[in-house]
Amino acid sequence: EGSSGYDIAALLKETGNVTLDVGFVNTASCQSEITYIDGDAGILRYRGYPIDELAEKSTFIEVSYLLIYGELPTAEQLDAFRSRISRHTMLHEDLKDLLAAFPRDAHPMSVLSAAVSALGTFYQDSLSIKDPDQIELSTIRLMAKLPTIAAYAHKKSQGQPLLYPDNSLNLVENFLRMTFGFPAEPYDVDPTIAKALDMLFILHADHEQNCSTSTVRLVGSAQAHLFASISAGIHALSGPLHGGANSAVLEMLGEIHESGDDVETFMNKVKNKEDGVKLMGFGHRVYKNYDPRAAIAKKFAHEVMEKMGVDDPLLDIAIRLEEIALKDDYFVSRKLYPNVDFYTGLIYKAMGFPTEMFTVLFAIGRLPGWIAQWREMIEDPATKIGRPRQIYVGETERHFTEMDAR
Ligand code: ACO
Repeated sequence: EGSSGYDIAALLKETGNVTLDVGFVNTASCQSEITYIDGDAGILRYRGYPIDELAEKSTFIEVSYLLIYGELPTAEQLDAFRSRISRHTMLHEDLKDLLAAFPRDAHPMSVLSAAVSALGTFYQDSLSIKDPDQIELSTIRLMAKLPTIAAYAHKKSQGQPLLYPDNSLNLVENFLRMTFGFPAEPYDVDPTIAKALDMLFILHADHEQNCSTSTVRLVGSAQAHLFASISAGIHALSGPLHGGANSAVLEMLGEIHESGDDVETFMNKVKNKEDGVKLMGFGHRVYKNYDPRAAIAKKFAHEVMEKMGVDDPLLDIAIRLEEIALKDDYFVSRKLYPNVDFYTGLIYKAMGFPTEMFTVLFAIGRLPGWIAQWREMIEDPATKIGRPRQIYVGETERHFTEMDAR
């Protein structure tokens, strides 16, 4: 009998040789050369390169190239990649009308997914999954346009005018300017913020077969085009058990702060599972050790806040929660450690992003991983349409009852 509560042995007897693996805890859906995780040792590598080396020495655009094309680029390859992306950052004016039609208080993740879905209607010349040139074009379009769409979703929620991209800036600087700048006003990109955001995007860039990536692959396995697959992945990411956890962490920290409760009182609620309350930003399906991304984000949270002169009491609460959890049997016995989302929200807040934008930032970071995984799947001759089986536990055969007899 598993934690799902099903009597698996009895069910298998009834249904034959089908494996029941609720939540795909132990089922590999593909072979992949992109990202390696050892959850027990807390190791994460992209294409073989350790995440801490990439976070320290690389840039988001270079890591995107590495994930999508398999190797670190030469200087010329990186230049060419950058310049191709910078030529596609604009949005079609009609797409802006679509964005304008959403309610002002729409969640930016819904806007992001809808706009990416709509790219499939505006760019019909890059929908083929058989033509490598079209796949390449949709790759570049997505890399270029997602930051623009994300910045527009933010501007719209603030009731502020949209800014055209400035292609003399790099991807992260351009995104910051479109998000926080104003037309006809100079905007000086803060190098501390730009560097920190670039590094956070690297930390999020891929994470093998997580919920959103599996969604991208599953949709793509039906040979749906890249825009459709990524749009579905964005929706999957929005859930609070996945990418939505970064904003849920901030909400949780804010509530603890405002309630005036001590941190121990909150932790008791978590341990007693009162109202299903969880310590958001803790636990991971694969990591049964400290998430290496959380360790980097924690260090960065201190550095960024210090450099920016931000003194946020929520950081102290987060640190105290972690200290308690790392010593408490409830968390230790279940191997629950901080995941990437635990500290990132605090950094985004210090940078000036509203909470609703946190998961959007995750999506920008994760985009190259989704694209790389989708392309690997499309190019793999072993790919089949994703089609899980089930174990039927409903009624056995019965016969139709007329309405007056029910
Ligand atoms: N707080 C309190 N208890 C927890 C937490 C948590 N954050 N996470 C897991 N547990 C408990 C569960 O209640 C369960 O307890 P039980 O053995 O008494 O039933 C046990 O730990 C195992 O947890 P599962 O839910 O079975 O683990 P699963 O692998 O299915 O879930 C998940 C992983 C969804 C990440 C979970 O840990 C969670 O909900 N965490 C909070 C949300 C979060 O931070 N999500 C971000 C994940 S990282 C990312 O997507 C980028």
